[in-house]
Amino acid sequence: MNIAVNTDPVRKTDAGMLVLPFTGMSLKKNGKELLKELGFECGVLEDFKADAGEVVFLYGTTGKTASGRVALLGFGEGRKTGDYRKAGAAISGRAVDLKIGSVAVDMTGIKAFAATAKSSAASVVAAFVEGCFSGSYRFDRLKSGKTNKKTDDSKPKKIIELIIRSEQAQLAAIESGIAEGIVTGSCQNLTRDLVNLPGNHLEAADIARAAVESGERCGYEVKVFDKEAIEALGMGGLLAVNKGSEQPPTFTVLDYRPAGKASKTIAIVGKGVSFDSGGISLKPSEGMGEMKSDMAGAASVIGAVEAAARLALPVRVVGLIPATDNMPDGSAQKPGDVITTYSGITVEVGNTDAEGRLILADALTYAVKHYNPDVIIDLATLTGACIVALGYSVAGLFSNNDKLAEDICESGMRTDEKVWRMPLWEEYDDMIKSDIADVSNLGARGAGSVTAAKFLEKFIEGHKKWAHIDIAGPSYATGKGGAKVTGGTGFGVRLLVDFLKRWS
Ligand code: BES
Ligand code: MN
Ligand code: ZN
Repeated sequence: MNIAVNTDPVRKTDAGMLVLPFTGMSLKKNGKELLKELGFECGVLEDFKADAGEVVFLYGTTGKTASGRVALLGFGEGRKTGDYRKAGAAISGRAVDLKIGSVAVDMTGIKAFAATAKSSAASVVAAFVEGCFSGSYRFDRLKSGKTNKKTDDSKPKKIIELIIRSEQAQLAAIESGIAEGIVTGSCQNLTRDLVNLPGNHLEAADIARAAVESGERCGYEVKVFDKEAIEALGMGGLLAVNKGSEQPPTFTVLDYRPAGKASKTIAIVGKGVSFDSGGISLKPSEGMGEMKSDMAGAASVIGAVEAAARLALPVRVVGLIPATDNMPDGSAQKPGDVITTYSGITVEVGNTDAEGRLILADALTYAVKHYNPDVIIDLATLTGACIVALGYSVAGLFSNNDKLAEDICESGMRTDEKVWRMPLWEEYDDMIKSDIADVSNLGARGAGSVTAAKFLEKFIEGHKKWAHIDIAGPSYATGKGGAKVTGGTGFGVRLLVDFLKRWS
């Protein structure tokens, strides 16, 4: 998607679709007049309320617009940037479905929109552009098209050009908003691609390679530890989970350092289970295929580090990704096994399906020991229990630091990637005690997402600013949560980028 700004009058812009956006307020104020000016009947205003993401098409050439199709687009009340993101997603989704290759959006009202949102013009435009990336995203790289007789190859399958019409005075703000939206939008789509790739197309080595390629593209350093190196380090958690696999594990460290002196070092750790069968504690077959998304944390880490690099944020960001699949095999780890993690802490493996915490344990300890980060955040599709607690659109947040928790919650609200804090009280410690090892990877009945977080907490070597985000629910749209496009959502990228900006 190429995005261009122009200052030509709207009616002169020749595109497959001309988009006229309104907030509820601007519709009341200017709706009638604008429609009249363009030669359209005002009757349509009976049906169009400018709800966020509402789209109404106007057909019939009035001779007053160069575009053959005009769409009214709702920005809702326009009080939060999320309204603009939602609208961008809606209109771009419709454009792709209708195979419209060029879309022109009238953003001459941006000053009023920004004032309504109590935000900058650039942030509003960035949110809208992010929405356009998200709404126009389709995962079709595994479709050969050979069985689809109806495909009309003459029509574009994606938006080729998005033209944003600006007033001269707002040009700079709009351009900077576009530049930012392109980064967050495309990084989030990169994350979605990785999540959507199934287990046979994306193994641990491919996760590492995706990071290496991103580093080469965007100019940051990436180090990959192969199985031998992981053995030499003594990452017993990652190696135990990998025992049942035909594919070797990888441990990848992404290291973005800003040109100047970094204000802070922030470590982000992502669970990279390329496929989770449960191992010997095998999962039921129904829905097991969704476990190709068990590396969503890792994918969000790659997306966020790339975004930090492309936005040249003044903070050092270290991404750490332990990756493997979790498979049953004669050589797989068994329930009851006791393993020694990288930290030296021994773990009784009560259930091989609680594998995420085993690989994260090693990565968390490694991050603290080798990078001494100011803040450490991990993202993981860690527990089904978190979905039971919070559903499919909100992530669980656990932190040993109130200020950090507050800031992450706030970033979640600002970017519409909401998180809700859950407790880490010591009462829960009793649930993961082991008789024969330091700790068990399996809790008792109840509070499954909390005991998982309590387990992780043991591996941060007493670090004082740690947060764990359980993204099992919002990272993957199964259709059960009401999302139209199913698959990877890229959850966490926007939240992390917003957080990194504010912590730098
Ligand atoms: N990857 C799963 C968690 C999960 C479940 C993510 C559903 C997304 C959707 C994780 O490895 C797992 O299997 N967790 C177990 C833990 C249990 C064995 C203690 C779970 O949640 O059942
Ligand atoms: Mn599992
Ligand atoms: Zn898992």
